[in-house]
Amino acid sequence: MALRDQEDVIREGSFVLLYLDGRRKYLTRAEKGRALHTHKGFLSLDSMIGLKYGSKVKSNIGAEFVALQPTPWDFVLKIARKTQVIYPKDMALMIFKLGLRPGMRVVEAGTGSGALTCALAFFVRPGVVYSYDVNPSFQEVARKNLERAGLLDYVVLKVKDVTQGIDEEDVDAVVLDMATPWLVVPHAWRALKGGGHFASFSPTINQVEKTAVELRKQGFVDIKVYELFLREIKVEEGAVRPETLMIGHTGYMTFARKAL
Ligand SMILES: C[S@@+](CC[C@H](N)C(=O)[O-])C[C@H]1O[C@@H](n2cnc3c(N)ncnc32)[C@H](O)[C@@H]1O
Repeated sequence: MALRDQEDVIREGSFVLLYLDGRRKYLTRAEKGRALHTHKGFLSLDSMIGLKYGSKVKSNIGAEFVALQPTPWDFVLKIARKTQVIYPKDMALMIFKLGLRPGMRVVEAGTGSGALTCALAFFVRPGVVYSYDVNPSFQEVARKNLERAGLLDYVVLKVKDVTQGIDEEDVDAVVLDMATPWLVVPHAWRALKGGGHFASFSPTINQVEKTAVELRKQGFVDIKVYELFLREIKVEEGAVRPETLMIGHTGYMTFARKAL
């Protein structure tokens, strides 16, 4: 009934992504006695319990929605946020590049709103994510998001300045989304196992340069920097073309591996 569970049938408490059209989707839960109000009328969340995912449901004014099981992509786009969060397109590259798999131990900083933490925990469970942030109020938001996703059991939240050190040893990956990643490079080196992965997300190229210089100095290998553009294509018969508007910039991703 949490984000992590694969289900065919909607049960009480299950997450439901109500799809209206390409632009309008609502993330909610099937709960007794509750309704979801939209500008297309309201839907009884009660009546969804027992339906198969993929079923069509109607609002009180007859608007048709499809009840889908949300993916981590859907979930992180809808979480409560107090900070800038990482976009799912960038998370997807990180997860695949780091080779995340069940049982891994990962250090993350900063936690922020916990969007990336949710994605990391989703893929490493029953492993663990140690997530550092200097700001306890951000971590409280992250805690709620992780709890809602049913992923809190796989995360250790730490109110700590990661530039002062990393407590863990022999971890599989260190993943950063914070202002001064270059200051964390020596700590990441000590915390990582041989061949372990370093990843850092930074909005500016100045941060990337400083981080890459430190990575080289430290002895990391296979240093790669990427920027990812995701362009949606509008598909209308006889007029298939890219959407006019897109997200122009999110950030650069720096990857490296520890050589023993
Ligand atoms: C952009 S937010 C991270 C957002 C997060 N990746 C997400 O997807 O929700 C950056 C976070 O880094 C934290 N931060 C900045 N410097 C830090 C440090 N030295 N140690 C730990 N956390 C730090 C900030 O408090 C902030 O919450």
